[in-house]
Amino acid sequence: MKFGVVCISDRCSAGVYEDKSGAAVKEMIRPSADEIIYRIVPDDKEQIAAVLTDLADNHQADIVLTTGGTGFAPRDVTPEATESVIERRTSGISEAIRAKSLEITPRAMLSRAVSGIRGRTLIINLPGSVKAVRESLEVVMPVFDHAVETMSGNTQSCGGNVTK
Ligand code: MTE
Repeated sequence: MKFGVVCISDRCSAGVYEDKSGAAVKEMIRPSADEIIYRIVPDDKEQIAAVLTDLADNHQADIVLTTGGTGFAPRDVTPEATESVIERRTSGISEAIRAKSLEITPRAMLSRAVSGIRGRTLIINLPGSVKAVRESLEVVMPVFDHAVETMSGNTQSCGGNVTK
């Protein structure tokens, strides 16, 4: 699988902070990744949309994982940027992350993360902290294989037995 990992943070893009969340994402997906393309962008809707479009259309990543910018802060625009580039929403993914995360912390309801498909690329917003990234990825990683399989038009194994 080919992944894009996008850290969305003014401070990380300015070099003020080290991107620990992006590093956590890369560490978790590495066993199932043939390639990981990594980008850092500031909390700017146009720049985020441009990076997501580039990863989907030119690099053709199967899955793009963003981290950060999903909350209530005035500069948090990751969901709006993502919504501006996706063609089909994948609400179940974001609902699952939020539902599972709410079992851990009520603050999970403060993430406005969304997800969706552009072409054959699945884009998933994750919150910004290392803790939240780990907890969220654990929820969705088990369906990555089948998500990519079905995006390519192969629905043959849909009836297969999958445990939680
Ligand atoms: N989800 C999980 N699983 N674990 C967490 O600790 N933190 C929440 C939430 N989602 C959290 C979580 C908090 S505190 C915030 S403010 C929002 O994600 C938004 O985070 P972001 O602005 O860094 O994207």
